[in-house]
Amino acid sequence: MIILGIESSCDETSAGVIKDDLTVLSNRIYSQKDHEKFGGVVPEIAAREHIKKIDTVVASALEETGVKAEEIGLVAATNSPGLIGALLVGLSFAKGFAYKYNVPFVTVNHMDAHVRANHLAFPELEPPYTVLVVSGGHTFILNCDHNNRYELLGNTLDDAAGEAIDKGGKVLGIGYPAGRELERLSKLGNASAFNFPRALPEKVNLNFSFSGLKTALKNQLKKMAPQEITEKLNDIAASYQEAIMDQLSIKALNAMKMTGSNKLLLAGGVACNGRLREKIQNGMKGENKLYFPPLSLCTDNGAMIAAAGLLKYKRLGADPLTAGASAVFNLTEVNYGS
Ligand SMILES: Nc1ncnc2c1ncn2[C@@H]1O[C@H](COP(=O)(O)OP(=O)(O)OP(=O)(O)O)[C@@H](O)[C@H]1O
Ligand SMILES: [Mg+2]
Repeated sequence: MIILGIESSCDETSAGVIKDDLTVLSNRIYSQKDHEKFGGVVPEIAAREHIKKIDTVVASALEETGVKAEEIGLVAATNSPGLIGALLVGLSFAKGFAYKYNVPFVTVNHMDAHVRANHLAFPELEPPYTVLVVSGGHTFILNCDHNNRYELLGNTLDDAAGEAIDKGGKVLGIGYPAGRELERLSKLGNASAFNFPRALPEKVNLNFSFSGLKTALKNQLKKMAPQEITEKLNDIAASYQEAIMDQLSIKALNAMKMTGSNKLLLAGGVACNGRLREKIQNGMKGENKLYFPPLSLCTDNGAMIAAAGLLKYKRLGADPLTAGASAVFNLTEVNYGS
C-alpha cells in the first residue's frame, strides 16, 4: 500500500508519500518565509499560505514518485495539535482527496508523528522505548510500551525548548527560527563563559522549565554594552545552548534509568541539534541505544504524518470524514495501542 501524509499544523506545508514497508518515496516541504520579519509565526498568514501552496506541494510529491493519485491506498493528515486555521487547510484537503479517490482517511496527532519519524529512519525499530520530544511548541518525555501505549513522564512547566531557543535567538538578533544559527555560533564559542541556570535539577523530577533561563539571558545582556555583546556573541550563544541541552540531556538519561528502557528516541526539530545528540550519547552506558531521525525528518514533514497514519490505521482502521481538528495536545487521543 502507498500512503500520502499531509502536514499543515504550523508554517510548513508538506506532503510525504511512503510505502507500507516505511520506505520514503517523496517528502516535499514548503517552509513559509513571511513570518521571519515578525520573529514568530503569525497564525492568519500561515493559514492563508497553506491554502496557496497545498495543491502544488501534494502534486509535486506525487509527481516525484510517479505514483498516480488513484494508486494511493491511505491518506493521513495532521488534525492536532497546531494552529487551528492552518490545521484545517491540510485536513480539509486530505478529506477532499479521500472522497474524490475513494480511499480511507486517518487523522494524525502531530506529536505522535514526530515520534514515529524514527520508524522511517529505522524500520526495524519496535517499542518499548523512551522518547524525548523537543519541538518548537512542546517539550516532554514519554514512555512507549510494547503495546504502543504512551505514558507521559515529564513535561515543560512553561516554554518548550524550541521556544526558548527561538525567543533567545530573537533577543540575540540571530534570526528566526534560531536553532540552526544558535548551533553554528555555539561551535565557535566557549560554553562555560557565562553561567546560565539549569532549572529543576532534582533527579526524580522529569519536568522542564526554561522561562528563568530566558530571563537570565535578558538580564545578562542588560549588563553588557552593545559592542561587548557583539564581541562575545559566540560565547553567549554557546553558554545559552549548553544550559538548554544540559537540562534536556540530563532528564532524558534520568528517564531511561527510571524506566529501565534501553532505547531512547529523540523527536521534533530540536533533535536536529548536534550538541544534544552528543551529550546524550556521551552519557549513555552499556547496551543503551540512541535513535534520532535525519534532519529532514526531525522538523515538520508529511512523511512522518504518513508513518503515524499507517500505524494508527493498522490498529484502529479509518476515521470518518467528519473528524475535526484541535489546537491543543491531548495524550489520550494518541493512545491507540491495544
Ligand atoms: N539545529 C538545531 N538546534 C536546535 N534547535 C533547532 C535546530 N534546528 C531546528 N531547531 C528548532 O526546532 C524548532 C522547530 O521544530 P518543529 O518543526 O518540530 O516545531 P513545530 O512543529 O513548530 O512545533 P510542534 O511540533 O511542537 O508543533 C524551532 O524552535 C527551531 O529553532
Ligand atoms: Mg512539529
